[in-house]
Amino acid sequence: MKKMQKIAWAVLAISAISVTTAQAEAPAAKPQHAEYKDWRVLGVSHRLDKKFVRSILGNDVAIAAARAGKTQPWPDGTIIAKLSWKEQPHPNWPQAIVPGEFAGAEAMVKDSKKFADTGGWGFGHWEGKTLVMNSAEKTATCFACHTPMKDHDYVYTAPVLQ
Ligand code: HEC
Repeated sequence: MKKMQKIAWAVLAISAISVTTAQAEAPAAKPQHAEYKDWRVLGVSHRLDKKFVRSILGNDVAIAAARAGKTQPWPDGTIIAKLSWKEQPHPNWPQAIVPGEFAGAEAMVKDSKKFADTGGWGFGHWEGKTLVMNSAEKTATCFACHTPMKDHDYVYTAPVLQ
């Protein structure tokens, strides 16, 4: 009996630890503020097939180029971030689709010399606060799907604000 009690206490203690851990980790569901926290909006998008909503942001170089209408091509130093969330209906207004679970942050980095083989763009993603450039293999899949936009310097997003 005593042994059973000990086991019961041990189980309780373990579940208490996992509850505490789950609570401590809960905020990680939101994107950590990487360098894009101060960037400004280039556009938004809604992928009907994948059920994602997205916010497309530009760094200072990108925003200056967008405001000047000089995005053909985008200048070296441009970084475009695409933040994705799973779509969900707003709990108090289901007709409104709003961001749900965070699904990741991808990047396009313009350096016409360094990334000459892929239209001058490096393709990467943020892991927490760190921008990590993708492997050559993964970059090839990114670049292939952005190639139909060659005449727009490989960028799908048309800046929506001056
Ligand atoms: C299946 C096609 C496809 C693939 C593969 C793809 N993209 Fe895109 N990408 C798009 C489309 C379409 C948009 C614009 C709509 C949107 O926001 O999803 C876009 C938008 C972007 C944007 C915002 C700038 C822009 O072009 O509008 C970034 C940044 C981006 N993608 C990065 C990546 C990275 C990094 C990869 C590789 C890991 C990648 N993409 C792979 C289709 C693709």
